[in-house]
Amino acid sequence: MKYGVNENCIGCGLCAGICPEVFSMTDEGVAKAIESEVPAGSESTAAEAKDSCPVGAIEKA
Ligand code: F3S
Repeated sequence: MKYGVNENCIGCGLCAGICPEVFSMTDEGVAKAIESEVPAGSESTAAEAKDSCPVGAIEKA
């Protein structure tokens, strides 16, 4: 499982707060996801981050 962040991101930061193993904030103030597979043990928090994004910017990649 991989995730990506699309152009709808408004930089609220929720995803990086919920699942910092997968999501981080860039210098541009938007989120990015790690390019590799979601680490074992982080699947549920990554899914929670996806579901928590207020603008639906996180998609399965
Ligand atoms: Fe952006 Fe959604 Fe994360 S708005 S910072 S992708 S929770």
